[in-house]
Order: sequence, then structure tokens, then C-alpha cells
Amino acid sequence: MFNAKAYSTASATSPLCSTTIARRDPTEDDVQIEILFCGICHSDLHMARNEWSSVMPTVYPCVPGHEIVGRVTKVGSAVTKFKAGDLAGVGCLVDSDGTCDACKAGLEQFCPNQTLTYGFPDRHLGGVTYGGYSESIVVDQRFVVSIPANLNLAATAPLLCAGITTYSPMKHWGVTAGKKVGIVGLGGLGHMGVKFAHALGAHTVVFTTSSNKVEDALRLGADEVVLSRDASAMQKHAGSFDFILDCVSADHDINAYINLLTRDGNMTLVGAPEKPLSLVSFGLIVGRRSVSGSPIGGLAETQEMLDFCGEHRITSEVEVIAMQQVNEAYERLLKADVKYRFSIDMASLKAE
Ligand SMILES: NC(=O)c1ccc[n+]([C@@H]2O[C@H](COP(=O)([O-])OP(=O)(O)OC[C@H]3O[C@@H](n4cnc5c(N)ncnc54)[C@H](OP(=O)(O)O)[C@@H]3O)[C@@H](O)[C@H]2O)c1
Ligand SMILES: [Zn+2]
Ligand SMILES: [Zn+2]
Repeated sequence: MFNAKAYSTASATSPLCSTTIARRDPTEDDVQIEILFCGICHSDLHMARNEWSSVMPTVYPCVPGHEIVGRVTKVGSAVTKFKAGDLAGVGCLVDSDGTCDACKAGLEQFCPNQTLTYGFPDRHLGGVTYGGYSESIVVDQRFVVSIPANLNLAATAPLLCAGITTYSPMKHWGVTAGKKVGIVGLGGLGHMGVKFAHALGAHTVVFTTSSNKVEDALRLGADEVVLSRDASAMQKHAGSFDFILDCVSADHDINAYINLLTRDGNMTLVGAPEKPLSLVSFGLIVGRRSVSGSPIGGLAETQEMLDFCGEHRITSEVEVIAMQQVNEAYERLLKADVKYRFSIDMASLKAE
């Protein structure tokens, strides 16, 4: 075992603060990574504050962070995919059983025995796993992905969660040229959704509550932007969308969007608000429409997404911050005041 600097929170109401955690010495299958950047996902905030207590109660102390990019410093003897000096990424998953139907299909995000990057039982050290708000991490090579060399690293970190979480459902629901696609909420996930929908050739419409994001949405690839609190602007799109991706982190009216779907259209929820959403059955019945959800993506698809990003030069729009600014960043995230992802420069933590 070795010690690593990290930021953790001790309770749902405590700020994140500096601490030291134990990391395992790499086993033969492990990759040890010096973390260079870690994105701040809204899920980090939900978890730090125990907002998902009914589904996934937070175990404290909690070290969040699952949008990790860094440099490999050491590898175990059986590691073939990486060597010291390589760039590497880690997302929301660090382990799974490898034997169930989901794992065999490369869909580790559905494995009943998966281990999330933080807050899940750690089968090596006991206790729970600790995430990317840290100077290093040790992960089984199966859960480490390669980072295209041509991308800015700070702006690549958010691809590991925000990127795959928006890419995967678009591939699943067949977003291509000729389709009309809506993205609800221009935050960390939403802005990646816009970039992917545009890159896949769809007619892309952004729904936002923030009038100051309209120009950005167009610059990021939207063909149209709708202020979602303007009922008449919403009404103009009634019955016209093939697919809508809902990336909203807080309570909101999903029925307003279901009414915009075409016959057999689908709305996928990736946003995970603390409170249940209400659903009007008729919105689904009249158009045989569907609402579904989608969690992150498997490892093969995560690598596919990163390669797609390398090819299309897609990264996240980031505001790089120091680790010490994390509490302030959380408050701004709650106000939808980030353009469009915070990326923590871990040099700031090493310097502490
Ligand atoms: N399914 C998964 O696997 C997965 C993975 C990662 C994250 N998530 C979840 O996805 C959600 C979004 O994460 P994120 O990191 O993208 O969050 P974020 O950066 O905070 O973005 C959320 C966006 O939602 C909109 N919004 C916020 N409050 C709203 C309200 N009261 N009414 C309507 N719109 C509101 C805002 O967009 P506008 O300003 O444009 O309105 C905001 O920018 C979170 O719940 C997160 O936990 C799920
Ligand atoms: Zn996330
Ligand atoms: Zn499995």
C-alpha cells in the first residue's frame, strides 16, 4: 500500500477537504496512474451530499471523481495494454465480475457485480473505493482506456463520464443524419450531447432554461435553441422529435418534452434528479412513445467514443480549476453556472 493525497467529504453537509488515502500496490493486472486532470460531474455532488440515499447511500468519507485522465507510472507483470509513460483514462467503473452475460457482451455498466470508481466496496483493500479527486489511482487494466494523443488532456477528462453517458444512448437509439434530436439542459452532459448529435449528423435542438447559453449552444453545434420556459416556443416543435436526451440534474417537467416526440419517438433520461419525476401516461399512449434511461457505457464503447473524439477533434469545454476550489465549484454547479465542465488540475493537489 502507499499513501496518496486526496480530497474527501465526511458527511452530506461537510465541505470537501484535504486528506490522505491508501492505494494498493499494483497487482499483476493493475495499472498505476498519476492523475493529471479530473472532471467534476454533477453525480459527484449528488453523491457527496447523499442525494441518492434511497438507491445508493453514500459511505463516508467519500472521495468523488470519475472523469480521470493521467499518465501511467507503473504496471503489473500481466499488463499488456499499457506501459509506464502512456496516457490513460478511467471512468465510472473500476471492476466487474467479467463472467455474467452483460460482461461477456461488453456491457459492464449492467454487471450486477460491478464496482464503481468511488463509494463501492473495495475488494482489494476493504472499505470503499476512492475516486479521482486524488493524485493517483490503481485500476485493473480492463477498466483503463487509451487517450487519443491529439486531444487536450484537461478537456478530455470529462469524456470519461459526460462523454460516454451521452454517446452511448445516441448510438443505441440510432441517432444519425436525417434524425431530429433534442438535448435538454446545457450542462456537462448536455454540451457533450450537442457535440455528438451534431457530429453524428442529426438536426440538433437544445432546450435550455438559461438565455445566456443560446449563443454557446449554436457555437457547439446546435441547429436551433429553444428556451424551455417559453411554452409557445416549445409548442412549435410538438410531435417532431425522433429522440430527446434529458440531461437535467434537478426536478423539471418531462411531460413537456414527451409531447415533442414523434410517433414511436424515444426520450432517454440520463439526468438523475434527487426526487422522482411525474409522468402523464397519455403523453406516451397517444404516440406510442417511450421513455427510458441509460447508464454510462461499457469499456469497449468508451474506447470507441474516445477514438471517435480523437478522429472528430471533440473535447469538452472546460474551466480548469485548482483542487482547492472544489467547494466553490459545487455551489456554481448548483446554479448551472459552469461553461461547461470543471476540470481539476491535479498539480494543485500535489503542490499542497
Ligand atoms: N445516467 C448516467 O449514467 C449519468 C452519468 C453522469 C451524470 N448523470 C446525471 O446527469 C445529470 C446531469 O449531470 P451534469 O454533470 O451534466 O450536470 P450539470 O453540468 O449541472 O448540468 C445540468 C443542467 O441541467 C439544467 N438544469 C439545472 N437545474 C435545472 C432545473 N431546475 N430545471 C431545468 N433545468 C435545470 C441546466 O441546464 P440549462 O442551464 O441549459 O437549463 C444545467 O446546466 C445529473 O443528475 C447527473 O447525476 C447521469
Ligand atoms: Zn459522472
Ligand atoms: Zn458481469
